[in-house]
Amino acid sequence: MMATAEVALQLYDAAGPQFWGSNIGYRISGSSFPCRSFERCRKKRVLKSMKSLKCLSSSCRGIRIHQFPCINGVSHRYAATDKFGLSHCKCQSADNVGGLTAESGNGTWFVDNAKDFNSTNGNVRNFLELGAVKELKHDKELHHSNGNPPSYKTIQDGMNKGKSSFIENEAWELLQESVAYYCGSPVGTIAAKDPTSSSVLNYDQVFIRDFIPSGIAFLLKGEYDIVRNFILHTLQLQSWEKTMDCHSPGQGLMPASFKVRTVPLDGDDTATEEVLDPDFGEAAIGRVAPVDSGLWWIILLRAYGKCSGDLSVQERIDVQTGIKMILRLCLADGFDMFPTLLVTDGSCMIDRRMGIHGHPLEIQALFYSALLCAREMLAPEDGSADLLRALNNRLIALSFHIREYYWTDMKKLNEIYRYKTEEYSYDAVNKFNIYPDQISPWLVGWMPNKGGYLIGNLQPAHMDFRFFSLGNLWSIVSNLATTDQSHAILDLIEAKWADLVADMPFKICYPALDGQEWQIITGCDPKNTPWSYHNGGSWPTLLWQLTVACIKMNRPEIAAKAVEVAEKRLSRDKWPEYYDTKRGRFIGKQSRLFQTWSIAGYLVAKLLLANPGAAKILITEEDSELINALSCAISSSPRRKRGPKPSQKTYIV
Ligand code: GLC
Repeated sequence: MMATAEVALQLYDAAGPQFWGSNIGYRISGSSFPCRSFERCRKKRVLKSMKSLKCLSSSCRGIRIHQFPCINGVSHRYAATDKFGLSHCKCQSADNVGGLTAESGNGTWFVDNAKDFNSTNGNVRNFLELGAVKELKHDKELHHSNGNPPSYKTIQDGMNKGKSSFIENEAWELLQESVAYYCGSPVGTIAAKDPTSSSVLNYDQVFIRDFIPSGIAFLLKGEYDIVRNFILHTLQLQSWEKTMDCHSPGQGLMPASFKVRTVPLDGDDTATEEVLDPDFGEAAIGRVAPVDSGLWWIILLRAYGKCSGDLSVQERIDVQTGIKMILRLCLADGFDMFPTLLVTDGSCMIDRRMGIHGHPLEIQALFYSALLCAREMLAPEDGSADLLRALNNRLIALSFHIREYYWTDMKKLNEIYRYKTEEYSYDAVNKFNIYPDQISPWLVGWMPNKGGYLIGNLQPAHMDFRFFSLGNLWSIVSNLATTDQSHAILDLIEAKWADLVADMPFKICYPALDGQEWQIITGCDPKNTPWSYHNGGSWPTLLWQLTVACIKMNRPEIAAKAVEVAEKRLSRDKWPEYYDTKRGRFIGKQSRLFQTWSIAGYLVAKLLLANPGAAKILITEEDSELINALSCAISSSPRRKRGPKPSQKTYIV
């Protein structure tokens, strides 16, 4: 056994950076590798040879080792899993390079840029501040009112203000309680801390997507450590060996969630250690692939840098490598004809079968956003020129495709209604061979005269006309939608308030699948019955994305109105995960209570409405290079010249 370990160690020592991504276990002894003893040896050796590493990971389940070049004499990346896929911590921080700490982070950006944002967006008002000024006036009136009793409205306003700050305080307390610690440091927030629920399932885990609003709330509050730790720890998990029935998904995949576990220390019955146990979908219900995790991770990384002023995290070699791994996975060539990212069902916030396989809007909006954020953060270096070129090309093609083919409004609908089909030609109008009969009666009645939206999915001969909120909102935030389209989406939200907000913001998608459609598409999923959960349920967490989108378009009053609706019930109902029924009147059938992203989503919405300038950490603006390239693409389409690809335009990704 020892000999095997030695061989492996020699291989590892000699391998260096070029070895990353390979599976030493398989190389040595095939699939029946003696994990446990190997791991022990490795641990001893690693402990000896890598003293400078503060958070150690020990090996196995097919041993995957990553090591990157040193900065300041410190190895920047070392990750290996054990048989159970766990990251072991020796109770020190994962953060092993010099860089700014939270204390030394430059918090002034926030203030300066908030001013900046307000000055460039002249008419963005601090909506809640204005409200607060009004209320202050009311307060004054309350105390100096010539002896007259204050009006009913005055008292009511004062009470509402008190109520809202009480709710905010409660939300902060609950958010704090949801924090997960790894070796004494905060590393994330668990999905829900519901004392009333007997089956926890995986809600006691830190979900990557669920942590985003928590992370943003902490950033806006000036608590940077937890976000920095989260970014660095999840980065370590990215390299894990992950298999499902002998198959491994791509290298750059980020887990859907992770759990901090306390396990007995190897070889010592009296001691325990903490481990990070990731789930890449291999344990998740339905074995869904968390495509959105890596995209959100990149978005959060940029927000962290912008908000804290600490750019040292995104500049780290291991972080740069992490970004590139995600990009390579997303930009890799496949069979697909479209520039949109092709994914399986349930690969995003909707992580169950809901007929969103193919090119769902949510993934495309996050993809576009992550590409833009990554472009801002990638250090220019020789090795990344091809990647950057591929990224730029994809950005152009993606925005053209979505803006052109996903957009729908009255005019477009009428065009589709009159489409000819079976057009075999290079310049077909109805490129995807959409049969007009697909326009269902609900849509004909639902589409407002003013407003429009991006459809949920586009595939050959298939347009999924459902309105998916997150995809539309994030298309505004990321600038995937044009300015006119972005305003039109908000117009539609206003016009369809009773369907999308009603008694609780915000409906995850509209309308719900019903009857036979529900049976076939969801597979008779009892959790996704009509107007429940992912199938037309209302999710308070979506408040924060709505708020960022509204602020970007200088229409914060829309979000403020939605927050007001939510505020009436959220705390009283114990912060549910989602609401059911067409108007969102009931707490969801199987909804968790004290759901962290409902709490954090509310807080982020409040914080941003109070300081709209801060939304800049999440927003990406139109870039002139892209506009030019896009207008060329539009003017040459649909009769694009065909012919062999010029050789200089082939990229290795
Ligand atoms: C549900 C949601 C998913 C979320 C998870 C944890 O599975 O669909 O989006 O991440 O719960 O809250």
